[in-house]
Amino acid sequence: MKNKKFAKYFKEYEWSNIFAMIRNNKSDPKICDITSAGKLVVITGATSGIGYLTARKYASMGSDLICINRNPEKSEALKKEITAEFAVKCEYVIADLSKLDEIHRVGKELAQLKPEINVLIHNAGIYLTKRETTTDGLEKVFVIQYLASFIINYLLMEKLKSQENARIIMVNSEGHRFAAWGLKLDDLNWEKRRYSGLKSYGSAKMAQLLSLIVFDELFSGSGVSVNAMHPGAVKTDTGQENGPVYRWFKRNFLDRSLRSPQISAEALYYLGLSNEIAAVSGKFFNLTTLEEPAPPALDKEVAYELWEKSLELSGLPGLKE
Ligand SMILES: NC(=O)c1ccc[n+]([C@@H]2O[C@H](COP(=O)([O-])OP(=O)(O)OC[C@H]3O[C@@H](n4cnc5c(N)ncnc54)[C@H](OP(=O)(O)O)[C@@H]3O)[C@@H](O)[C@H]2O)c1
Repeated sequence: MKNKKFAKYFKEYEWSNIFAMIRNNKSDPKICDITSAGKLVVITGATSGIGYLTARKYASMGSDLICINRNPEKSEALKKEITAEFAVKCEYVIADLSKLDEIHRVGKELAQLKPEINVLIHNAGIYLTKRETTTDGLEKVFVIQYLASFIINYLLMEKLKSQENARIIMVNSEGHRFAAWGLKLDDLNWEKRRYSGLKSYGSAKMAQLLSLIVFDELFSGSGVSVNAMHPGAVKTDTGQENGPVYRWFKRNFLDRSLRSPQISAEALYYLGLSNEIAAVSGKFFNLTTLEEPAPPALDKEVAYELWEKSLELSGLPGLKE
């Protein structure tokens, strides 16, 4: 038996959910064609792939943007491109979302913004085949893919609640299913077991889905929704930090079966703007189709435990009663 939750999750897995996922993976996103003029959208990792096309999509529909990126040159080029093509504002904040102090800075800066943030998209992410640690001594994928969104949401909670209207979207993944038997809460840092790219990626995405449970409870009744989504299996720059063998394999095999990230951008626009899902929160979408995530992602007990550990790792105080 892999862990004490194995039997519980095993019973909860249903073939119908797996078949639904396979069906949804082939589907196209619903298209939302309402304007977003005057809306402010914050997106992390807008310099490449899904984030880049999503930033363009929102701008083309009238949204002003604040992009949270790590690369100044790419950010300036994006700003120039977007403001030249569309009559919107495009600002950027430079931050390395693998570093706790920089994540905190971003969260605090956003919390102090005067204008309302209408849509907040947590998109930045990496995939690593070998374990790397951050300057804070934490496993890198866990921080960028999960802890960054956790800290920023946490620091923005009061601002977003006071607006009484906002949508948070976490770009998650069907890859959360690689953490098929749940999180190892006693080894979130991957020090006690053999590292695997797929498993660490799956665990970080699983952690984000578990945080969704608690954030949804905390935002309940406030007018703020928080959802997660799989953006499709799409061709982007993901995995470029890995060695030449991985990159060769990705270019020659993986990329051939991948779709255009334009579908991800359309889905993220729909999830941010469509009236059809205005009242939906705490859910997982495959593009724009509601989907049941893997059973460990719905485990409230683990979600609360992870919440406490995440506060500790992030250096955040608990919420006041
Ligand atoms: N591609 C897929 O098929 C797929 C499937 C499921 C989920 N996803 C998820 O989709 C999201 C976007 O990935 P993508 O496929 O579009 O990959 P991508 O092309 O590599 O884009 C990733 C973005 O995140 C940024 N980023 C990476 N590390 C960062 C850091 N430390 N601080 C700040 N920004 C950072 C990158 O910045 P640079 O431009 O500077 O590198 C880039 O803008 C990720 O969360 C990924 O897990 C992708």
